[in-house]
Amino acid sequence: MTLERSNVAELVIIASRTLPDCMLGHLHHQRTTCITTQSSTRKKMDKFVIDGGRELKGTVKVSGAKNATLPALAAALLACGKTVLTNVPNVMDVRTMRRLLLRLGAKVEFSGGTMEIDVPQKLKCEAEYEIVKQMRASYYVLGPLLARFGKARVSLPGGCAIGARPMDLHLKGMEALGAKIDIVHGYVQAQAPRLKGAKFQLAGSHGVSVGATINVMMAAVLAQGRTVIESAACEPEVVSTAEMLNCMGAEIIGAGTPVITIEGVDELQPCQFRMIPDRIEAGSLMAAAAITGGCVTIEDCRPDHLTAVIETLRKAGVKIAQGDEMVTVEARRRLKPMEILVAPYPGFPTDMQPQAMALTTVCTGLSTVTETIFENRFMHVPELQRLGADIKIEGNTAIVRGVPKLTAAPVMGSDLRASAALVIAALAAEGRTEINRIYHLDRGYENWERKLKKLGAKIRRVHVPM
Ligand code: EPZ
Repeated sequence: MTLERSNVAELVIIASRTLPDCMLGHLHHQRTTCITTQSSTRKKMDKFVIDGGRELKGTVKVSGAKNATLPALAAALLACGKTVLTNVPNVMDVRTMRRLLLRLGAKVEFSGGTMEIDVPQKLKCEAEYEIVKQMRASYYVLGPLLARFGKARVSLPGGCAIGARPMDLHLKGMEALGAKIDIVHGYVQAQAPRLKGAKFQLAGSHGVSVGATINVMMAAVLAQGRTVIESAACEPEVVSTAEMLNCMGAEIIGAGTPVITIEGVDELQPCQFRMIPDRIEAGSLMAAAAITGGCVTIEDCRPDHLTAVIETLRKAGVKIAQGDEMVTVEARRRLKPMEILVAPYPGFPTDMQPQAMALTTVCTGLSTVTETIFENRFMHVPELQRLGADIKIEGNTAIVRGVPKLTAAPVMGSDLRASAALVIAALAAEGRTEINRIYHLDRGYENWERKLKKLGAKIRRVHVPM
């Protein structure tokens, strides 16, 4: 069978997400017969090679938060003119969102951590499957487009490595604001000449939703009258989005609490806004420092966003000194076991669960890690087992019996945070670990190998020829 070049590239991308590397051989062969190789596709096969067992030492700066930046880019669509975002991390998901905004008709310049989004009077009101399937957070354009133009067509994102992750709560919120929603050919079609404020609760069977809270809040800012969102998510990314919207002229109070009240306004203006530091990157660096028995100062972070993580690490014996925007993490001996229960903010973040589990693998005694938000977020377990971890899964709890040391092996990332967990484990493992499919990590960690190298890690990125 002969495949078109573009089809082969597409197949390799889809297959590299879903198939083990051993099954990718034929596609790779097909691809080498193509005339050109897209660098983005080549990067998808990058791997890390890490020689473990070195203490991390020194100072490192945290980048801006990916999960605050993605809705901020969508929020910019609510006003005509140029919005300027600073401290924007240069990671793949942010670049994907930028591409979506370009397709909608905005002009977007991105350089040196500053993103300028110039939004015209008219926009295309559609987020195509092509982009949404690459990054589900593309659904953040639904609220702003519906609010500003009275219509939006956004592809449903489909499945995800960590769970089903439906969009029903986003749609419930839009409907409560008076939108008519139809699902047609895999797309959400939403219409409302003008949204109308309403009072409703937004939690589902899995609890509160960060994405739905943000999306509905972005829709409600231009609605007629008052909206009250009950059972709202309280994550710092919700607060950051509300602060940006208020900078644009919105009237939102209560963000960061379970009840958010929004007085609708007729129009918003563009603004300048700085992204908050990435709390999950900061937590991941804390885990990396702790597992290597090192001493690392993490700057440009918000320890107040990391209370549950700091408390858990302290209980296990990690020494943590904190200032307003920095923490110093020191772990000189083997840590005590941990009992980690994932919960919505201010609880222990699900996005830190895999990295924390990596740390428990070398604690003394029995640790437990209970995931309560996503049903399938244990994909890192078999990979940690390849590195010598002793982990048993019972329902939504992983029972980890600490081993004195991990040992190197080839492993594979399955999603963003699972990949970070493998990097953390590999930094402590004896020998040389290869971590395949680093493109997952590139979605959300800016310059990670450079940052870890600066702290003394022996880590390098290898481009794998296809
Ligand atoms: C955000 O995802 C983050 N993504 C996730 O980070 C994070 O894990 C998650 O919040 C929880 O903190 C971004 O910010 C881009 P949810 P989101 O809606 O908004 C269920 C990372 O690694 N649910 O709070 O999609 C859902 O299935 C990523 O950076 C519904 O049932 O998460 C889950 O069980 C991964 N219906 C729970 O709610 C809905 O309509 C919480 O999901 C929406 C969600």
